[in-house]
Amino acid sequence: MHWADGPSSPPSMSGEDISARKERCLRSFVALMAEARPGQPLDIVEVGSWLGESAIMWHGALRDFCAGSGRVICVDPWQPYEGKAGIGQLLDAEQTRQLNARTAFASFQNNIERAGASDTIEVRRGESDDILPALPAGAFDIVYIDGDHSYAQVAKDIVNAKPLVRDGGLICGDDLEVLYNECNLPLAIKWAELGTEYVRDPETGLLFHPGVTLAVWRHFGEVSRWGLTWAMQRHGQSWRKVALA
Ligand SMILES: C[S@@+](CC[C@H](N)C(=O)[O-])C[C@H]1O[C@@H](n2cnc3c(N)ncnc32)[C@H](O)[C@@H]1O
Repeated sequence: MHWADGPSSPPSMSGEDISARKERCLRSFVALMAEARPGQPLDIVEVGSWLGESAIMWHGALRDFCAGSGRVICVDPWQPYEGKAGIGQLLDAEQTRQLNARTAFASFQNNIERAGASDTIEVRRGESDDILPALPAGAFDIVYIDGDHSYAQVAKDIVNAKPLVRDGGLICGDDLEVLYNECNLPLAIKWAELGTEYVRDPETGLLFHPGVTLAVWRHFGEVSRWGLTWAMQRHGQSWRKVALA
């Protein structure tokens, strides 16, 4: 599979397009790691699992590229969360009702079970601040960051994720709609400091997560990006852009 780093999704992309593009990325990350460590089970941490869409994508990729060997640790408090209502393939009217009735975790479990992913998924219910520091250092091929999208939290998640990744492994995440040099940076900094999660840039008209843009830029500088998904690869003590092929 070949595609180059490129601009984020055009505003016309549907939730389905965005999900399909995300799945291609996650599968490519697993394929890359499986090639680097043939025959080894892969260890993945996911920060923010919500209804299980991306967890099920990881499961499918492990099945297809690692003969199902590996695990995905899903870290999420599963408190009511409606930040992405309408986006993704797993949210319908009934699930929205369930979310409002505070049963997001039950929906996650149900989706994982229906996907046949229960053996791959390990649940760690709680805040990433508490769970990530307790995981073993250097033990993971991929850490995927898609939890709270405020600047402060994305920055903490990146700091806590870095030591977990083994040499050659990846840190990646979702919802990087624009890079630091594609938005009004002073405004983005102001929004990030205010804790604004999602906002429209008046210059470009693009909706974006200033916290993700800022945190990724401050911790890594330039990153690899495909659609809304970003990634960096560990090389010893440094982090480099990722070549996907
Ligand atoms: C954007 S959704 C995740 C979507 C999921 N990765 C997918 O693609 O299907 C964000 C999730 O982050 C979770 N979250 C919010 N704050 C968190 C925190 N401090 N630690 C871990 N998860 C958190 C929310 O409960 C929510 O389920």
